[in-house]
Amino acid sequence: MTQPGYDALADTYAAMFPEPYQYPIERHAAAAFAEAAAGRPGRTVDVGCGLGHVASDLAGRGLDVIGVDPSPGMLAHARRLHPALPLVDGDASLAALPDGPIAAILARFSLIHVEPGEVRSTVRAWSALVDAGTPVLVAFQAADEPGPPLAFDHAVAPAWRWHPDEFARVLAEAGFEEAWRIVFRDKDYRFPMAQLLAVRD
Ligand SMILES: C[S@@+](CC[C@H](N)C(=O)[O-])C[C@H]1O[C@@H](n2cnc3c(N)ncnc32)[C@H](O)[C@@H]1O
Repeated sequence: MTQPGYDALADTYAAMFPEPYQYPIERHAAAAFAEAAAGRPGRTVDVGCGLGHVASDLAGRGLDVIGVDPSPGMLAHARRLHPALPLVDGDASLAALPDGPIAAILARFSLIHVEPGEVRSTVRAWSALVDAGTPVLVAFQAADEPGPPLAFDHAVAPAWRWHPDEFARVLAEAGFEEAWRIVFRDKDYRFPMAQLLAVRD
């Protein structure tokens, strides 16, 4: 299980993104997610954890975090940068995750790399793994207009951006009800970005 694009560019990526968040609003979304996950039994799973910066930040906020990523190159950096962080080589299906309760799931800019039809089966798989009340935060490049996900020319790997309503609908079909969303736009970036928190019914 590999992610060739991220493997090839892992060193560049690590040099370009030394911090967990590019925008303050992302830090606030992560803090609100950490609050929703706090006190729940089990591990918080960072799906597509990349360099592990966000997982480490969440661990610093008191969560028991495990990172999952299919790129050995990104995981190598995560292990170097955050040696105390538990990490698993695996994809968004979470099939490689060790058994045990899941407190919460975070997937920041990783489901964009999963083919849209597979996103539906992926969130259904999550739904089967978690208890009622489990929060899920997804972050993604957004589409302005409602409609099906749009492929875009991501610099590293094939990617799709979603209208937040469409992502919320896919989550709802899998049993995750939207609690809140933040959609923001930076003047120097070409797409809006969405952070969407949903909770398992
Ligand atoms: C843009 S990076 C985001 C890293 C991190 N989540 C963050 O917020 O900084 C995307 C990550 O998703 C991972 N990824 C790609 N395909 C994936 C898949 N099918 N399942 C889970 N993660 C995937 C990549 O290896 C990469 O580390």
